[in-house]
Amino acid sequence: MDGSIIEHTPVLAGTLAERITLPSDGVMVDATIGQGGHSLLLGRTLGPEAVIVGLDVDTSAVRRAHFNLKELACNVIVLHSNFSQITEQLGKQDIEKVDFILADLGVSSTQLADPEFGLSFQTNMPLDMRFDKRLKRTAADIVNKSDEKSLADLIYQFGQDRASRRIARFIVRHRKLEPIRTTGQLAQIVSKAFGKPKRGRRSRIHPATRTFQALRIAVNDELENLKKLLASGPDLLNKGGYIAIISFHSLEDGLVKSDFRQNEKSGIYRIVTKKPIVPTREEIEENRRARSAKLRIAQKQ
Ligand SMILES: C[S@@+](CC[C@H](N)C(=O)[O-])C[C@H]1O[C@@H](n2cnc3c(N)ncnc32)[C@H](O)[C@@H]1O
Repeated sequence: MDGSIIEHTPVLAGTLAERITLPSDGVMVDATIGQGGHSLLLGRTLGPEAVIVGLDVDTSAVRRAHFNLKELACNVIVLHSNFSQITEQLGKQDIEKVDFILADLGVSSTQLADPEFGLSFQTNMPLDMRFDKRLKRTAADIVNKSDEKSLADLIYQFGQDRASRRIARFIVRHRKLEPIRTTGQLAQIVSKAFGKPKRGRRSRIHPATRTFQALRIAVNDELENLKKLLASGPDLLNKGGYIAIISFHSLEDGLVKSDFRQNEKSGIYRIVTKKPIVPTREEIEENRRARSAKLRIAQKQ
């Protein structure tokens, strides 16, 4: 794609581009710029007066986005920052109001495959899960240091796994023998906690999926950051401006849904997507990562 390095296929990008029309001199914030796939598509409609501000907590994503968005006519500013700091970051650029805020939550395919992030149970890698290497606490710290009850609560609250107590018990039992340092070790321990699936009751997802989700959310404080981003929307958006959030699990989607509803009740937003937009079967076949995506859009009144 024009010399750009895009390994991550942006989810629901075409749908988003159909729904969102920006003024040609508009200001857009891509709060999770990643490799810039969404920004590249939307940025092609923007003129030289327009600005895209991209944020990401992953320094390698910041570098790639910079490179990938070079061809755009508009101004592009990519910052190494958590989107919870969106208002402060825009303030530093003398930007008070924007026409579009986009967040495509979660992980990129590149991060999932990169051992440095330690996110995947499909490949054995050091158990880390920090998107932002400035954070102090890794997933290994949590599984090796938390007491059993806190661990079970965390797996229940952020992973919605009903087997959370049993999984926590297995983790604590295992770590008495040796520290849990890799994703492979943890995936095996969680699988053992579930035991052999009964005949005909094989789950569609790997038994460790929910535990890994819970740890990732905890390590990166994902729900609190999302709440802060959502809270910044009303003040930052120009009248007629849009906020669009692509989420990948019900905890995130629940926060987005209730924030948009509350703001609609107060007359601040109009909800554009009465029901969340989900990818077509064709998109899911082409990009497995899209399968749990939900897009919600609201417009500032
Ligand atoms: C699904 S990817 C985004 C992909 C991007 N839309 C694209 O087309 O390439 C999510 C990105 O959000 C980043 N991220 C996650 N939490 C963040 C946060 N709180 N603040 C800023 N970036 C975050 C991750 O590092 C990752 O690069």
